[in-house]
Amino acid sequence: KTKMSIPQFKEFKLQRKKFRMVTAYDIAFAAMVEKTPIEMILVGDSLGMVVLGYDSTVPVTMDDMVHHIKPVVKGAPGTFIVGDLPFGSYNVSVEDAIRNGNRIMKEGGADAVKLEGGKNVLHIVEAMVNGGIPVMGHLGLTPQTATQLGGFKVQGKDAAAARQLIEDAKGLEQAGAFAIVLECVPSPVAKLITDEIAIPTIGIGAGPDCDAQVLVTQDLLGIFDRFVPKFVKQYAQLNRQIVEALNLYAQEVVDGTFPGPEHSFGMKEEDLKRLY
Ligand code: KIV
Ligand code: NA
Repeated sequence: KTKMSIPQFKEFKLQRKKFRMVTAYDIAFAAMVEKTPIEMILVGDSLGMVVLGYDSTVPVTMDDMVHHIKPVVKGAPGTFIVGDLPFGSYNVSVEDAIRNGNRIMKEGGADAVKLEGGKNVLHIVEAMVNGGIPVMGHLGLTPQTATQLGGFKVQGKDAAAARQLIEDAKGLEQAGAFAIVLECVPSPVAKLITDEIAIPTIGIGAGPDCDAQVLVTQDLLGIFDRFVPKFVKQYAQLNRQIVEALNLYAQEVVDGTFPGPEHSFGMKEEDLKRLY
């Protein structure tokens, strides 16, 4: 597997070839994604909810992100890796944002960063791109600012809000973003945005017309079961299977079925005799 480049992702859009992104937060899952044709891994700040047990992505720190990007980079050398900039890492100043973007790439080893927002972040995106940091945008339901949006709900439902999203997408393209995640927007709006910009759109809850799709791996595998958003399709029910396996192990330890001779170490007869 060879890592795709940013121009290749843009070329995919021109040729109307879909590409795929999933999340990973550790080497085990990164290595499994590496065995598939999935082109991109996002080390998302969904880390906070899926792995660290927070109720939102807001508490996730730069150190958390760098800590989890490193093993993903090790596990998936042939996959393009994007690291999320967490809440608070790009809203202080442009300088601070660039410093944090540098950390995601230099310390973490990611190929690019992702940040959330439209017109408010355009100057940051532009400065980062000028500084040599590839930036992916994220519009629609932006979980870091879900409180301002009134919760985790579909964005751009009326004409005015949809028009603002289109403006924001064009702004991000202009500012130099190489791709944009569209989260929880009506399919027709995502299609319109996808048609109007030259950089790829990556949809999650944004219908079938985006240039690419992304899902949280723990959602698509049926591991994270605290809630299942409408846009998630579970391709496996691993949570149930893992609990079943753990229950079987627990039972076999108690009833003596495990460990069997095949999992145990013996001794030479003569050494055994000397022992007694
Ligand atoms: O953090 C994340 O996993 C994300 C995706 C849902 C796009 O931002
Ligand atoms: Na995110």
